[in-house]
Amino acid sequence: MNLKNKKNEHKIRNDIDMNNLPKHIAIIMDGNGRWAKKRFMHRSAGHKAGVETVKEIVKAAGDIGIEYLTLYAFSTENWYRPKEEVDFLMKLLVDYLRKELNVLHENNVRINVIGNLDKLPEIPRQEVYKAIEKTKGNTKLKLNIALNYGGRSEIITAVKECINDVKNNIIDIHSIDEELFKKYLYTKDQPDPDLLIRPGGEYRVSNFLLYQMAYTEFWFSDIYWPDFKREDFFKAILDYQKRERRFGGI
Ligand code: IPE
Ligand code: IPE
Ligand code: MG
Repeated sequence: MNLKNKKNEHKIRNDIDMNNLPKHIAIIMDGNGRWAKKRFMHRSAGHKAGVETVKEIVKAAGDIGIEYLTLYAFSTENWYRPKEEVDFLMKLLVDYLRKELNVLHENNVRINVIGNLDKLPEIPRQEVYKAIEKTKGNTKLKLNIALNYGGRSEIITAVKECINDVKNNIIDIHSIDEELFKKYLYTKDQPDPDLLIRPGGEYRVSNFLLYQMAYTEFWFSDIYWPDFKREDFFKAILDYQKRERRFGGI
């Protein structure tokens, strides 16, 4: 990082009100493929570069004291990509966990996964379980990795489980309200995201956290994920702090 960027980053960081941090930040990590294309490189090079951004942003989130960070790593729709790309993304996930687990653990990061893990290939699934197990006692940043995650699928799974519990007399149908229903979601014990960051130039939610984002503040940027830096992350937080959240009130 050059000196000017560093100075700029410090300035932005210093402007952040530490008493008004978003508790939960969700990120749709997008633009890896276009980042590579722009450089006449293979899409896989974009994904690889994207992992470096993951490391940087996870570190930044921990440093500043964010409690929950949810990263969209693989959607239920991403299976439609060529097998070669899907395999590469799974391999990157395994490499990331194998190489970074100790660092994450030392930084008191607790890893959690949201999404349907049953459909993940065996090796990534095992690595994920290992990471969850190893970090389960950690108390600083809660890092949710969204893997084979889809908001609609999450809601449908939750509805089915609810119905099952009603059928088995575990819950009463009249007791189902927003608070109870939330317990059936992958994010059961967590606050809803306060801030959604989507780099990569697209202005959509792409099936991410549909139920949880009812009152989330959205922040979009044209920067491709591999080019997204700490400074941009802090800028998003700063912009968030300028918003007035009304939750339907006045
Ligand atoms: C995000 O980058 C990574 C994943 C979805 C896994 P993309 O691969 O979607 O990059 P673009 O959108 O094609 O540029
Ligand atoms: C969303 O990005 C999914 C992830 C970042 C994992 P996509 O690139 O898959 O979404 P679309 O295709 O632009 O909606
Ligand atoms: Mg994309």
